[in-house]
Amino acid sequence: MAEVSQAWLDRVKRSQQQAAERLGIDVSEMLPPRDGSTGEVQESAAAAPAPAAQPEPVAAAAQEAPEPSPQPTPTPVAAAAEPVASAEATAATQMPTEDAAATVAAQAPTAVQSNGSAAAAAADRVAPVGRAAVLESFETGQEGINRREFLAYAYGGALTLLTLEGGLATYQFMYPRFREGEFGGEFNLGAATVLPQVGIDPEGNTTGKFWLINTDEGPRALYMVCTHLGCLYKWEPSNNRFECPCHGSKFSREGFYIEGPAPRSLDQFIIKVVQDGSVVAETADQGDLVAAPAVPAPDAEIVVDTGKRLQGKAAADSPAKKVV
Ligand code: FES
Repeated sequence: MAEVSQAWLDRVKRSQQQAAERLGIDVSEMLPPRDGSTGEVQESAAAAPAPAAQPEPVAAAAQEAPEPSPQPTPTPVAAAAEPVASAEATAATQMPTEDAAATVAAQAPTAVQSNGSAAAAAADRVAPVGRAAVLESFETGQEGINRREFLAYAYGGALTLLTLEGGLATYQFMYPRFREGEFGGEFNLGAATVLPQVGIDPEGNTTGKFWLINTDEGPRALYMVCTHLGCLYKWEPSNNRFECPCHGSKFSREGFYIEGPAPRSLDQFIIKVVQDGSVVAETADQGDLVAAPAVPAPDAEIVVDTGKRLQGKAAADSPAKKVV
């Protein structure tokens, strides 16, 4: 019988205990420690031969040493675990802790495969992690990701999603989309028959913030805000013109500047005349004039786009400017 130390025996038992915990079995189901050179079972240091100078205590110890317990019949799981535990114990006695773990990881799958399906089940329960898993993937050629790689991928995905959401929010802020019927969107007024008669007082649309008038040239949608300092001007039927209560600017029913501190005629929203699903005419900037669209038929639809506004022309170029 080879000479063993208590420290060696303790290390082997500790390794067996850890292996049993990982396998979920009782440590008693595992083989007792063996001397690697002789294969003899080592139950305790007391069983080891004592120095020759003290034969009597050794003999006494040998008599008191417990009989080796009968070898338990290994269950399939225990049989599968046995090579693993043996590999772990061997590695633990010969290498530093980290290298031992790597060796166990490399040896365990090979040992387990030799024990059939039960061994495969046991292998699932002792799947190595961390560095041991990487080493195993090199040994077996199997691909996979470890916990650190998974967290890196998850972090990258979350960061990408956050960036996309931020970009979408910025786009919507810079280029807002308005629904039909709200200021900034389109107002479909229906057939041209809804337009006020030519020469009749304009109609105010407070939701769209425009005055709708009809002229011999076509309809106009005048923005309700004064071009001077932004007051809301009013229609004065007695004077047949628009007048601003703030500083006295005055505009014709077509929105042309007449007099006052306003620098230009009234701004207009674009009116689209739609027939058979196509735009056949719309308000146009002709350089020195904002021209109204012609209405070809009474059933043509009138659409006011409050998202598109044309500035009125300079007061000096107004055809309605009052000459003093
Ligand atoms: Fe209308 Fe000054 S704001 S005239």
